[in-house]
Amino acid sequence: MTPQEIRKSFVDFFVAKGHRQLPGASLVPHALSTTLFTIAGMEQFVPAFLGEEPAPAPRVVTVQRCLRVAGGKNDIESVGRTGRHGTLLEMLGNFSFGDYYKRDAIVWAWEYLTKTLGIDPQRLYATVYVEDDEAAKLWRDEIGLDQRRISRFREDNFWDMGPTGPCGPCSEIFYDLGAAVGCGRADCAVGCPHCARYVEFWNLVFQQFDRTSDGRLVPLPKPAIDTGMGFERLCMILAGKTSIFETDLYTRIIAALPAPVGKSSLKGSDEDVHRRIIADHARASVFLAADGVTPSNNDRGYVMRFLIRRALRSGRRLGLPDGFLSGCVPAVIASLRDGYPELPQAEAAARRIIAEEEALFDRTLARGETRAAAMIEATKAKGGTHLPGGQIFELYDTYGFPLELTTEIASENGLTADTIGFQAAMEQQRERARNDARAKRAAVKVASGEAVDLPGTDFVGYEELDAKATIVALYDASGSAVRLLGKGQSGVIVLDRTPFYAERGGQAGDHGVLATPSASFAVSDVQYQDKTYRRVLHKGTLLAGEIHVSEAVEAHVDPVWRREVRRHHSATHLLQRALKDVVGDAVSQRGSAVFPDRTRFDFDAPGGALQRDQERQVQARVNELIRSDYHRDVAVMPFDEAVARGAIYMKGEHYGDIVRVVSFGPSVELCGGTHVASTGEIGLFVLTAESAIAAGVRRVEGVVSEAADAWVGRLRDTVDKTTSAISVPPEKLADSVARLGHERRELEKRVEAMQAKLAAASVDEYAARMQSIEGVECLAVRADSSTSVRALSDALRRRLAKGVLAVVGGEEGKVSALVTVGDDAQARGVSARDILGAMMPLLGGKGGGSAAAAQGGGKNAAGIEAALATVPAAVRAALDA
Ligand code: ALA
Repeated sequence: MTPQEIRKSFVDFFVAKGHRQLPGASLVPHALSTTLFTIAGMEQFVPAFLGEEPAPAPRVVTVQRCLRVAGGKNDIESVGRTGRHGTLLEMLGNFSFGDYYKRDAIVWAWEYLTKTLGIDPQRLYATVYVEDDEAAKLWRDEIGLDQRRISRFREDNFWDMGPTGPCGPCSEIFYDLGAAVGCGRADCAVGCPHCARYVEFWNLVFQQFDRTSDGRLVPLPKPAIDTGMGFERLCMILAGKTSIFETDLYTRIIAALPAPVGKSSLKGSDEDVHRRIIADHARASVFLAADGVTPSNNDRGYVMRFLIRRALRSGRRLGLPDGFLSGCVPAVIASLRDGYPELPQAEAAARRIIAEEEALFDRTLARGETRAAAMIEATKAKGGTHLPGGQIFELYDTYGFPLELTTEIASENGLTADTIGFQAAMEQQRERARNDARAKRAAVKVASGEAVDLPGTDFVGYEELDAKATIVALYDASGSAVRLLGKGQSGVIVLDRTPFYAERGGQAGDHGVLATPSASFAVSDVQYQDKTYRRVLHKGTLLAGEIHVSEAVEAHVDPVWRREVRRHHSATHLLQRALKDVVGDAVSQRGSAVFPDRTRFDFDAPGGALQRDQERQVQARVNELIRSDYHRDVAVMPFDEAVARGAIYMKGEHYGDIVRVVSFGPSVELCGGTHVASTGEIGLFVLTAESAIAAGVRRVEGVVSEAADAWVGRLRDTVDKTTSAISVPPEKLADSVARLGHERRELEKRVEAMQAKLAAASVDEYAARMQSIEGVECLAVRADSSTSVRALSDALRRRLAKGVLAVVGGEEGKVSALVTVGDDAQARGVSARDILGAMMPLLGGKGGGSAAAAQGGGKNAAGIEAALATVPAAVRAALDA
């Protein structure tokens, strides 16, 4: 039977018994759920069990996708390691809401398994709750199950969905996978702690209670039936397999994984484990994406990110190429589409979401892995058994490693992870963040009442860059209000009016100078005191003289700074217009940051990354808007009116009732920033980068005006240097470099081939130097160069199949060594790793490998002969040992 035939036969069976078929629910449970994900078929019916909502029908049948990632028997670490556990599972369930009860539930389950599916009754076993004589009697008398095939358990036969909610005794059905997978002990039976011979696959829960938060068991209004059959396990049983991962549900996905491009760091059966992890996590991620979850750092998004990253890590260890996980989305969908016809619609979203996590992984996690390996090595070198919390935090904070991933990596390396120390480091960071915020506020701390009394600052900087003003307050570097600041002191100045723009709406605060006849204060940052945007704080340092509260100052904004900020800000508006024109109106701003030498713009991009030609079009469109030299038009109007006029604004940003609308021709935006008088002033726009910053959110960076000239200048320098280095005109550069690369690869191949020939030609000469040590053939020779070590070794190996072969070659600074040992010699105790180990100190380097083959790299070419000379003694020592 195909998976879909099995699903259908279950539904048909129960529909024939008067059940109404209902669709499975989303993996994201209803808002009041006590679980993060839908973990069982009964989840969508919790309100009905509790009597809070009417039941949809007295009898219901569903196929429910479930996600189980945490706790007890469903520990994620078992996934792929046992043949029974997956995070994503489908549950076949029949339900009764105050209608039939234990008898029918048991009788129909038996009928379905043995009659409809034809499962051998001799392989089936049942368990019941210790005190549930009624269920035990039903199994014995109604079904005729031998007393010895019915066992009673306490915890395992009481089902709950968590600390609170519906719960009750249950009866589980087990299948005997056969003696071949068993432990063979005389007392091996259902529930055997030593083996997985008996697999539980259908749970019939007799829902009877609601467990309240104080732990009391309150009877449900009506007792109910809630059954759940593990679909993957059923498929396994029907296919005569002993692992769910051997069913089509997983094999199709595993078969679709691309061939490794790198070296696997795993051995033997571990490779299979990691392929299964990938298949399972891919299934989970695709269903999560289909149910609208995206990776993030919270709740469900965190779990999804964790699953994806865990799968990516497995792929890395297997040496799979970049993009393998998003690449297996179609196979996942193909394996499930029969049961979930709407799933293919989620294909594009799932691929995009996973591909974005892959890109993030490549950038940071890969570096994090190197860092983690170094940490583990250092801990072990010190004889430690714990990976310290501070280091786990570093991996989390800098490289985005979820705690669970680090814990797993540590345990793979025989270490435990100091999770308590990690939590402490997390808390310290939160504290630091709070203190930073406090320090920022402290820098502007005002005695209580003062803030209310003090007037706000008038911003006059739209029209002028220079203004006369009066100091209304002064604060020193620690944020205390002071009467005066002296030379060299840093602090904060509040004026009654200012031409300085304070950071807001993505535009950076101005730089400039506040001057009195005898003093000058260099302004390096300008911020609002708080979100009321009333008082402006000029932060900086007094370069000369002394300043006092109430003194008059002249405020001068650095005109070049402001001019370049203005050009970048106006260009950012044009950029948003151009993005909407090229990519579509769905582009919507998430944030921006405008500086005098660059700008960046973040936006929701349902379509994913910009294509190269879209980037070019966006850049061209911005420049076209610049050349059109649109004049700035600023109008102040009610928010609603602005929106009615089509003004663009940022969702989630707080705008007042009355807003400022800045327009340049077709670009119309709500904005409080400073802008050019007409777009021609911007000069030139260059789109310099496009990247992902989160799932579905892209960032475009660009430069204009002088910064754009500088950017183009640098590019030109690079091109000039490159063209003169390889003596071709710029227009031929790309072709020439591509050709050089190609030629180089060809030459490398030829060199390799020639080296192999040379090696083969001189084999006789070399082989003559072979000596026999206690009957073991042994040859240690020098190759012409480090690159010919491998070829020579291969050629000699053909001649010397059984013994010990050591080849070393190289030049100062780059020496390679390769030792191989045949089976016979290995059997006599000779190990390639040990022989290499004796040589490497003389070669000034390190290496490693197995008993059969080991290689190393060093720097000291002068030590080659001495290193080769150690080989016979090392062989002899191994034989004598
Ligand atoms: N709700 C029961 C389970 O998940 C059927 O095992």
